[in-house]
Amino acid sequence: MAKKNAIGLDIGSSSIKVVGISEGKKGLELLHFDMALLPPEAVVDGAVMNFTAIVDKVRELWKVNKIKTKDVAISVSGNSVIIKKISLPEMTAEELENSIQWEAEQYIPFDINDVNVDVEILNPKAGQGQMDVLLVAAKKDVINDYVSVAQEAGLRPVVVDVDSFCVQNMFEANYGFPPGETIALIDVGATVININVISDGITSFTRDINMGGQMLTEEIQKQFNVSFEEAEHYKTGGDGNFSNSSIAREVAKLSERVSETLVTEIQRSLDFFAATTINADIARIYLAGGASQLPHLVRSLERRLEVPVEYVNPFKNVTIDQKRFDPELIGRMAPMAAVAVGLSLRRVGDK
Ligand SMILES: Nc1ncnc2c1ncn2[C@@H]1O[C@H](COP(=O)(O)OP(=O)(O)OP(=O)(O)O)[C@@H](O)[C@H]1O
Ligand SMILES: [Mg+2]
Repeated sequence: MAKKNAIGLDIGSSSIKVVGISEGKKGLELLHFDMALLPPEAVVDGAVMNFTAIVDKVRELWKVNKIKTKDVAISVSGNSVIIKKISLPEMTAEELENSIQWEAEQYIPFDINDVNVDVEILNPKAGQGQMDVLLVAAKKDVINDYVSVAQEAGLRPVVVDVDSFCVQNMFEANYGFPPGETIALIDVGATVININVISDGITSFTRDINMGGQMLTEEIQKQFNVSFEEAEHYKTGGDGNFSNSSIAREVAKLSERVSETLVTEIQRSLDFFAATTINADIARIYLAGGASQLPHLVRSLERRLEVPVEYVNPFKNVTIDQKRFDPELIGRMAPMAAVAVGLSLRRVGDK
């Protein structure tokens, strides 16, 4: 029997995204897509802070969009997740499963009893009797909070993933990985930047940076003494006469400064990757996440890293019924959908 896709439920720090995609003979088709803004501080450092606010928004999203499916795929990112590529003596997948709990201890900064550990063999024969393994550890209490949110909203969490791998899944389904090439997928969110460098379809470096578009919101709040909501409004262009105002010019300056700060951090991570990896030439950078829309970001990245940069389209390979979804709205919200699209491709029964 064909397995059914779960609904992708991405609880980000600024908003919740819901994506439903069906996988049939005609390929991928969009069933559901919506977002709901969260109040500030509902999610802090990748952890659930305002449980009730999030549960209410999730319930509302299911109701408004008349979603019948209860199975959801959720994800975690940021401080509570450790992803490391490690080298171990060659062994079978079964032997690895049995020894990983013990092996993992030396690679992660948390108590091994407080984390869920997952492993994937990337290269079973890396040479000299060694193999490359991807080790993923996520804090149990943080996972439990997200699982509880979904359950409290009447849903069944069937998959727990990690944001950067969701973006990777999304990319594979829409673009496929260019053979023999190294690319970087970068999701710039409100508070976290997920970087995932992929060579020949295999993760070779990941990093989560605790920074994002919210930095600009906070700068605007400080500078003009306005609320969070108002600052968000300024960021995305304000209304009517805003674009010619002196505030708009000031916001543009702040925005450029914040972009530079984010680019500096991204560059630092990619420099580290380059310094520690052979054949580290990145052919192209693909950007996702709401804050990737910051003016200057793309140009600044291209200029400083000397790598072509383009926006990823999470719906490139997804059929969208234009009678049900407004193309203009989809286009505007697409950058923020990357993680949820990746989640929506996961199936009930996946790990
Ligand atoms: N057009 C735009 N220009 C500038 N910034 C934007 C634009 N659209 C959205 N943003 C910013 O992008 C951020 C939201 O992006 P996204 O939805 O990807 O983050 P998130 O998933 O909620 O957060 P995170 O993944 O970091 O927890 C907000 O800071 C928002 O202000
Ligand atoms: Mg996000």
